[in-house]
Amino acid sequence: MSHAEDHSGDRRDFLYYATAGVGAVAVGAGVWPLINQMNPSADVQAASQLRVDVSGISEGTQLTVLFLGKPVFIRRRTPDEIADAGTVDVSDLVDELARNPNIPGDAPATDANRTMSDFSGENTGEWLVQIGVCTHLGCVPIGNGAGDFGGWFCPCHGSHYDSAGRIRRGPAPENLHIPLAEFVDDSTILLG
Ligand code: FES
Repeated sequence: MSHAEDHSGDRRDFLYYATAGVGAVAVGAGVWPLINQMNPSADVQAASQLRVDVSGISEGTQLTVLFLGKPVFIRRRTPDEIADAGTVDVSDLVDELARNPNIPGDAPATDANRTMSDFSGENTGEWLVQIGVCTHLGCVPIGNGAGDFGGWFCPCHGSHYDSAGRIRRGPAPENLHIPLAEFVDDSTILLG
């Protein structure tokens, strides 16, 4: 597949919702400053919490919502993505911290520490929620298995993130950050 075709496919996956189910805008990587000016209404930016219905996210797909002026990727991972992420030795990572405010700040970047539990309290590794802002200079990485590590790729300067959103190659210094998030029922994630 050519780079252009690959990029086109990623763009199709890239939908932003000002609130769940409202106002989608298709965008690609690297144009976040423009979208940031266009999209968020004052009430969305002011909201400190957002409830997201994730019932429509099928395995292997990602929903991107706008929260506090930033994109948040909500991905329902495939068994292969979960297995790949689980084989990584934390000591081999560029950034060994989980970057997950839902657990202690010094927690290591294991796959389990990056993913979230469902409403029953079980963490199957299926749900990965992270802020979609590259930790290099703030572009929005493209997803859907992009990059050399099957996760996200930021083409601005070539940062590759794995299927747990951990930086594996390129100039980004930290893993994609995770927001405060929890399931509040079987199909709703509360951000913030
Ligand atoms: S902003 Fe992502 S690699 Fe530079």
